[in-house]
Amino acid sequence: MKNVVQFFFVVSCLFMSVSCRSTGHVRQVNNFDEGWRFHLGDTLNAQSPTFNDGMWRKLDLPHDWSIEGRFDRNSPAGAGGGYLNGGLGWYRKTFTLSPSQKGEKVFIDFDGVYRNSTVWINGHELGFRPYGYISFRYDLTPYLHWDKPNVIAVKVDNSQQPNSRWYSGSGIYRNVHLVFTHQDRFAHWGIYVTTPEVSQAKATVKVQFQTKVEPTKEPVTIQAQLYDAHGKLVASAKAIPVKDTLNATTIEINTPHLWSTTDPYLYTLVSSLYVGNKIEDQVSTSVGIRYFNFDVNKGFSLNGKPMKILGVCDHHDLGCLGSAVNKRAIERQLEILKNMGCNAIRTSHNPPAPELLDLADHMGFLIMDEAFDMWMIHKTKYDYSRYFAQWHKEDLSDQIRRDRNHPSVIIWSVGNEIPEQAAKKGSPEDRGAAIMKELCSIVRGLDDTRPIVTANSNPEPTNPLISCGATDLIGMNYHIEDWLTFPKVYPGKKLIITESTSALETRGWYRMPSDSIIRVPKEWNIPYSTPNHLCSAYDNTSAPWGSTHEETWKVVKAHPYISGMFIWTGFDYIGEPTPYTWPSRSSYFGIIDLAGFPKDVYYMYQSEWTHKTVLHIFPHWNWKPGQMVDIWCYYNNADEVELFLNGKSLGKRHKTGDELHVMWSVPFEPGVLKAVSYKNGKAVKMVEERTAGPADHITLAADRNLIHADNSDLSFVTVKITDKNGTMVPTADNLVHFTVTGPGKIVGVDNGSEIDHDPFKANYCHAFFGKCLVVIQSTHKPGVIHLTATSEGLPARNLPIFSK
Ligand code: GAL
Repeated sequence: MKNVVQFFFVVSCLFMSVSCRSTGHVRQVNNFDEGWRFHLGDTLNAQSPTFNDGMWRKLDLPHDWSIEGRFDRNSPAGAGGGYLNGGLGWYRKTFTLSPSQKGEKVFIDFDGVYRNSTVWINGHELGFRPYGYISFRYDLTPYLHWDKPNVIAVKVDNSQQPNSRWYSGSGIYRNVHLVFTHQDRFAHWGIYVTTPEVSQAKATVKVQFQTKVEPTKEPVTIQAQLYDAHGKLVASAKAIPVKDTLNATTIEINTPHLWSTTDPYLYTLVSSLYVGNKIEDQVSTSVGIRYFNFDVNKGFSLNGKPMKILGVCDHHDLGCLGSAVNKRAIERQLEILKNMGCNAIRTSHNPPAPELLDLADHMGFLIMDEAFDMWMIHKTKYDYSRYFAQWHKEDLSDQIRRDRNHPSVIIWSVGNEIPEQAAKKGSPEDRGAAIMKELCSIVRGLDDTRPIVTANSNPEPTNPLISCGATDLIGMNYHIEDWLTFPKVYPGKKLIITESTSALETRGWYRMPSDSIIRVPKEWNIPYSTPNHLCSAYDNTSAPWGSTHEETWKVVKAHPYISGMFIWTGFDYIGEPTPYTWPSRSSYFGIIDLAGFPKDVYYMYQSEWTHKTVLHIFPHWNWKPGQMVDIWCYYNNADEVELFLNGKSLGKRHKTGDELHVMWSVPFEPGVLKAVSYKNGKAVKMVEERTAGPADHITLAADRNLIHADNSDLSFVTVKITDKNGTMVPTADNLVHFTVTGPGKIVGVDNGSEIDHDPFKANYCHAFFGKCLVVIQSTHKPGVIHLTATSEGLPARNLPIFSK
């Protein structure tokens, strides 16, 4: 019993940290995020252990200094970088070690530092890493003091701008761990689990491992034990490793519980390293047993069941938190996506935070894990192309070795819209095919269980990245017409839409009158150049290279050979405010806005991608008397929908053919607009939009009123301006101030606007089309956090949040 309890403790700890991190007395993985000092700007000798950092700012990681800045029209990061500045910064941390651990190996693991980081321990330079999205480790052991304090210094240089087409953030923006092991140990990312044979009846789990073992007279053995989700030992195997090489053993299990997007069942593999009878190391790895296939005609299937990949592309920023990783913030994004019916994510265009993959394993998402946005030819002046030649092998290998145990990862993408696609044949830039082959061989050398793809913006068979034949799938970005001719142009090949749509919407803003439903021409023109820098929330505009949400989904839905798609994008992101530039500073492409509020089209996907009963009408019901308003309605699980205005029926509508919504054009009169959906003549669901009166109240609603007192957990509070009856005022832009007392702090505010220039790190925010968001973070202290919101002319509002 005791063992079971211990096991559960180990497993639950593991589920809170990243997979393949181990626990127990043999190996310690300690979070190393707290108690750093930070200085923005360069300074002489800050790597020296005797440097005085007493005046530097104290902070805890993860940290993104760019998000703390003001939007700057002249920022060298430009529109792509969201007009937030990069720069150069230093971090230092002083720490002591317990002499009882002397003799152990000590490593520092950085999950990601943006970018060009150099790390020193006690004045000794450990190394330089240019790529801002890669995880890396240094061995501190030879340079450590056991009898006096140690100083780690990190210089982060994001001053050369622009180096990215989107907002990157700056600093040690992901988690850091200090890892203690015995001298005899498993190598870093040295456990590799695959499931070469899987059926409903039986599965083979293959464990390959790499060890670092000093020559010894004692026999070395590895024990691999597989536990089910209840902590019950299911099967085990032993192996005798040969020094430092990849060794393998297999575990057979009957009637495996398979991992899927709807039932993301995980086993835990505990790998133990023994020298003689003594256990020297132990690593736990989450294992999902599943098989999948891409079929030329039938598309994707998981565990033998055909399904579409219903995916979104997302960048890594977390809205007002910037790129500073927070597991709860990522989890909230995934919850919102799951609720929409989304089952897949493309980590565009770089390796993600490890937390994203852990959450995807646990929550049931498929992942297209992407490596690069460019190879040798640059997209922005100072981007990674400068480092590609020297670093791609190491970076790509590290990505694959880190991520290959995640059951969620089903595709490796080695590049997005790589400019080498368009290099002139025979020119010095014409290296696409050669690089493609090399990258594929690096990936296959480390993992041959997943298909490789590139996201191509050139769909022609002459594209060297395609014609070289190195990839397993053909990935197409946009070019919807080419999806239709794919089977003819590429007989025998498998298609995945690596990027689609790029439709534009601002939450809460609607172009009137009914001309807004006309499909805009495929070039930038009047509908985009609205003076207010907003894009209508009707699904009627897309980038010239893209297509509207509805037309895109209709094509993907109708053709089984299209294995699925990744929509650009799930969430709005900072930067790339196409089609605008200043004052716009964040994207319009999201199905969900930057604050995490769904736009209307979210419900189109929900009606198509889930079994939930959906009935959603828009826009709001505050217009000028007599103005013609188009009412759109997304619905499912019903035969028809009837619309009523102030109790009077405006008629029933139902979708015909491949339609995805119904519509009424209605002259506005104040009151209540009501929709009722019917199935076999019986009412299924009812929704209303009411004309709002003047602003009268603030309402506060937390996504969670109870959070963990762990200095990291978050409560996302939606703030609405409502009239006296509680109807949100859909045009309200009131300025709201926030104060917090108790063991919590405000870590960000946002409203989903693409043009608001107030800072994200503030205690105030304007409502944008009726609402905004304030994000509260716990401290280590349990207690009640009281949030108060005030706005001129409205009564103050309080909300308690419990931190335990
Ligand atoms: C694509 C590109 C994305 C994003 C998008 C905007 O071509 O891959 O990163 O820029 O366009 O529509």
